[in-house]
Amino acid sequence: MKNILVTGGAGFIGSNFVHYVLQTRDDIQRLVNYDLLTYAGNLENLKDIEKDPRYTFARGDIRDRKAVKELFNEYDFDTVVHFAAESHVDRSITEPEVFLTTNVMGTQTLLDAAKDHWKLAPEDKYSREYKPGVRYLQVSTDEVYGALGKTGMFTETMPLAPNSPYSASKAGADMVVRAYGSTYGLPVNITRCSNNYGPCQFPEKLIPLMIHNALGDKALPVYGDGMQIRDWLHVKDHCAAICAVLDRGRVGEVYNIGGNNEKANLDIVRLILSALDKPESLIAHVADRPGHDRRYAIDNGKITSELGWKPEYTFEQGMTETIQWYLDHPAWVEHVTSGAYRNYYKRMYGS
Ligand code: NAD
Ligand code: TYD
Repeated sequence: MKNILVTGGAGFIGSNFVHYVLQTRDDIQRLVNYDLLTYAGNLENLKDIEKDPRYTFARGDIRDRKAVKELFNEYDFDTVVHFAAESHVDRSITEPEVFLTTNVMGTQTLLDAAKDHWKLAPEDKYSREYKPGVRYLQVSTDEVYGALGKTGMFTETMPLAPNSPYSASKAGADMVVRAYGSTYGLPVNITRCSNNYGPCQFPEKLIPLMIHNALGDKALPVYGDGMQIRDWLHVKDHCAAICAVLDRGRVGEVYNIGGNNEKANLDIVRLILSALDKPESLIAHVADRPGHDRRYAIDNGKITSELGWKPEYTFEQGMTETIQWYLDHPAWVEHVTSGAYRNYYKRMYGS
């Protein structure tokens, strides 16, 4: 991995990944962060590394074929890590179309650019020979597997059964990646991780939204009974897992990434209130999300046994650090929650 294209590197996980890679690796010559800077993209996340000579930011849309092709020609990438996406389930319920165009068509645009740039005999439809060492990694989600009941865990061989427009668009993208591996022999991997948490997460997702509201003594909107379960993964553990797949993952394989932290939403909300010394009377049960998946849980046996990765963070340590990060960065929170965020919040939650 010398010349790496990171899409969506100004978002939550992408910006943590850019930091992680630049801090931990000495094999990177150039890292290009290609990001459209939608509401979720924030260059403030990258301020401390923007002068790193290895780092380049390029603003653009993954659906723009010409721009993506030119980027490949200019930087001759050997590695693609594709984070860019519309990522929030609630938004996908009210505006599904952009999820399909960005998450499915944007992925196909990247795959085409990688295939055309890396294939040794681009005109030969039977050729499966590519430049040595190239790799395309699709960052997907456990939500493509659908919902679990009280028991069981997601394994890589389970059928996909997405329930929201978001997860359907991610599952669609995964299928296209799989097809490019099977049909063209493109060296691909897909990673499917559980819910991430950590610094720089936009406060539309559960943990930062609840921290933000609690700090402002505002109601904490818990969907339905709040007993839905997610399996939480610290974003830095996720970044390390992606590097393990890039370094040692078998071509064509899917790897689930999970933190072994199943928690009910209500327990997380209570933990945040207690850490901030706020009363539980702030909890407000609101109407449930349509199509709400009850439980996610990842079996991470394949990546731990095959690649030797394991999560380092305990949930308690990760949450303490994450809450502290939000306390230490009021200006970041203020910038991302002004303007458009207020309109979004009103649309989703009323007043
Ligand atoms: P995010 O919403 O914080 O960031 C998405 C980034 O993509 C933003 O910087 C945005 O500007 C950029 N982007 C959006 N549309 C674009 C386009 N058309 N062209 C170029 N850039 C565009 O998302 P995140 O939480 O960091 O998630 C990153 C990836 O990880 C996504 O693919 C998501 O599906 C996946 N994922 C996230 C989680 C999680 O808990 N956050 C869990 C599982 C999987
Ligand atoms: P979210 O962070 O949106 O992630 P995902 O839907 O991708 O799992 O939500 C995590 C859980 O928290 C999910 O069960 C929905 C719930 N939730 C609430 O109860 N209230 C909220 O305001 C939000 C944003 C989420």
